[in-house]
Amino acid sequence: MYIQTARLVLRNFIDGDLESFLAYHNDPEVAKYQGWGIPYPREKGESFISYMKERTAPKQGDWTQFAIALKEKDELIGDIGCYIKDDDARQARIGFTLASKHWRKGYISEVIPHLLEYLFEDMDVHRIVADCDVENIASYRTLEKLGFRREAHFVESYLADGVYTSEYHYGLLQREWRENFKGR
Ligand SMILES: CC(C)(COP(=O)(O)OP(=O)(O)OC[C@H]1O[C@@H](n2cnc3c(N)ncnc32)[C@H](O)[C@@H]1OP(=O)(O)O)[C@@H](O)C(=O)NCCC(=O)NCCS
Repeated sequence: MYIQTARLVLRNFIDGDLESFLAYHNDPEVAKYQGWGIPYPREKGESFISYMKERTAPKQGDWTQFAIALKEKDELIGDIGCYIKDDDARQARIGFTLASKHWRKGYISEVIPHLLEYLFEDMDVHRIVADCDVENIASYRTLEKLGFRREAHFVESYLADGVYTSEYHYGLLQREWRENFKGR
């Protein structure tokens, strides 16, 4: 994977990403709506990078994550991932994270369309879904701006740190993206 946008690079993880990866995984603001829990141990980061850095293409039944780096310095600022359903290679789920000091700069909206293009056009995916906590405004606004449709509101459906939280589920079809959002 190597895609350049105006300000960013979407690429495979490299060993040199470890410190930045650990820093944002251990930031309570970033981890607030994510499932990984903190403290996020160094060994977990090392094994994640060593597993993911060899991944050349999404694999069915597993998350595949790519690094988001600033183009000028090749500094890791976040990651973006997709999960291809194990029983249907034309359905995918996406997820995304940025280090908090890089929020509100439009980076995530710059990079996600490239992942959508890759999944919808290169992999001929039919449908992409994403879900988020109902309080995660930045996440659902990002999805809505990219054309995702809110399809469900599950009430107190997800147990996080002993509390049942509510979720929005979003979906986008290949034909909808081609007709209304591709290249925008
Ligand atoms: C989700 C995430 C990648 C969004 O990145 P970001 O740089 O903050 O996104 P943007 O600045 O492009 O904001 C996206 C939209 O949300 C809005 N938004 C962002 N933060 C907001 C807030 N705290 N309150 C209200 N709106 C907010 C922005 O205004 C923008 O909408 P607009 O273009 O209509 O104005 C980032 O917040 C993040 O990494 N969060 C932690 C990890 C996470 O929760 N990932 C999603 C898991 S489902």
